Amino acid sequence: MGYAKVHSVALLGVAGEVVVVEAHLATGLPGMVVSGLPDAALVEARDRVRSAVVNSGESWPQRRITVNLLPAHLPKHGSGFDLAVAVAVLAGAGAVPVDLLRRAALLGELGLDGTVRPTRGVLPAVLAAARAGLEQVVVPLANAAEADLVPGVTVRATRSLRELIEFAREGVPLRPPPPLTAAPPPSGPDLADILGQERGRRAIEVAAAGGHHLALFGPPGAGKTMLAQRLPSILPALDDEAALEVTAVHSIAGTLPPGSPLIRRPPFQAPHHTASMAALVGGGSGVARPGALSLAHRGVLLLDEAPEFSRRALDSLRQPLEDGEIRLRRSGGETSYPARVQLVLAANPCPCASPEGDRKCDCSRLVRRRYLGRLSGPLLDRIDLQVTLLPVTAAALVADQPAMESSAVVAARVARARAAAAARWAGVRVARNADVTATTLRDHRWRLPRSVTGALIRALDQGHLSARGHDRVIKVAWSLADLDGRDRPDAGDVTEALELRKGTAL
Ligand SMILES: Nc1ncnc2c1ncn2[C@@H]1O[C@H](COP(=O)(O)OP(=O)(O)O)[C@@H](O)[C@H]1O
Ligand SMILES: [Mg+2]
Ligand SMILES: [Zn+2]
Repeated sequence: MGYAKVHSVALLGVAGEVVVVEAHLATGLPGMVVSGLPDAALVEARDRVRSAVVNSGESWPQRRITVNLLPAHLPKHGSGFDLAVAVAVLAGAGAVPVDLLRRAALLGELGLDGTVRPTRGVLPAVLAAARAGLEQVVVPLANAAEADLVPGVTVRATRSLRELIEFAREGVPLRPPPPLTAAPPPSGPDLADILGQERGRRAIEVAAAGGHHLALFGPPGAGKTMLAQRLPSILPALDDEAALEVTAVHSIAGTLPPGSPLIRRPPFQAPHHTASMAALVGGGSGVARPGALSLAHRGVLLLDEAPEFSRRALDSLRQPLEDGEIRLRRSGGETSYPARVQLVLAANPCPCASPEGDRKCDCSRLVRRRYLGRLSGPLLDRIDLQVTLLPVTAAALVADQPAMESSAVVAARVARARAAAAARWAGVRVARNADVTATTLRDHRWRLPRSVTGALIRALDQGHLSARGHDRVIKVAWSLADLDGRDRPDAGDVTEALELRKGTAL
């Protein structure tokens, strides 16, 4: 009779919980059962672990082995428990001492030859281990850099089960995590590439300053896609907390760059309109994986050619836009992923997508209205900025243009505006104008006088604006004032904010 236990971590969404992996070895028919809500991959782990142990030069105990993962109620997915299972079995057989691993979480998938393979979700798993008071983690070498982002835990990297056995048995040191390589400078397209297009440039600057969702309408070639791709380049870098959140989601998706895994720039995702629901909002068979919506957490989600997305896809965004997270219901239970995105919709005015003024477009007004109508209602209603762009003429594009402002210059103005907004709203725990509640806007300290909101009241009276629309215009007016370094919006800001919300004549 032998018994041993080690620790690992189970993930549910980005939340991790420490799991005890225990092994009982008893006399009886040789074999191994794994219990504690294993999914299919965990059952397969049995064969993988056995091969890995044998190919690491250890003998597989000829006993009746029961491996149990506790707490039993937690769903446990994937192959990240292999390493812990192998060590628990060897320790239960008395072949490997676990004194050096008592305060450690073991994370990693085993290859049949005993190599330790990288797994997804190491960052959130290590965060959970640290929170639970574990002092060490043993992780696959390729995941060591992301594990090392977590303060307060000692990270030991291993390439093989053999290395871990030698550490446990003889104290042969495991590798420290590799030094972090410097984060690459912000890459991606720059605003300097966009000639003219004052209206479009203004719209994304205001969107960045206030965190406003944005819709860009206009004929093909107007520069909608180009502008949207440059929004991340003028957003502030992620703070420490946001960087860890974003990196955790990308860790689970398996999209972290090795070496410098911490994501410091707001991410950008532009799923194609033919993308599956799983690719868009998350899901998939087995473990629910994050989709573009969560990969864009704290960054920008662009729905290019937005009316081409299915109704179902567009509808599925409403709740997460409200809640900042997406809940994915599946047979195994509910998984949630963070999903606080800045949404950008881009749309041509009609389904045939012919250039403005081209005679070939004979879409009727009704067809045009129906096309954009797919976006209307609850989705468009949440979008503070709705602008129509006209293409910069070919003549203007080839003419000598003065140098355009670069992203760095605009980003500096955006950062100042953000700081002003964050200071103003600190008392109501909001950082961006887009997040301010209607109650705060109506508070006597912040309510704008009629002399400032005159244009708005006329638009309301004439039925051009809903009550919700009214609040959105005010929020944008605050962003305009912040960009201009003024304490409060004036009538000019309100007029421009109204202009920035006109969109198309639907
Ligand atoms: N203001 C501009 N400055 C420089 N190039 C532009 C501009 N507007 C459009 N272009 C050119 O036109 C192409 C199409 O722009 P794009 O952003 O794809 O338009 P849209 O998405 O509105 O159809 C771009 O790749 C770029 O070469
Ligand atoms: Mg486009
Ligand atoms: Zn048309």
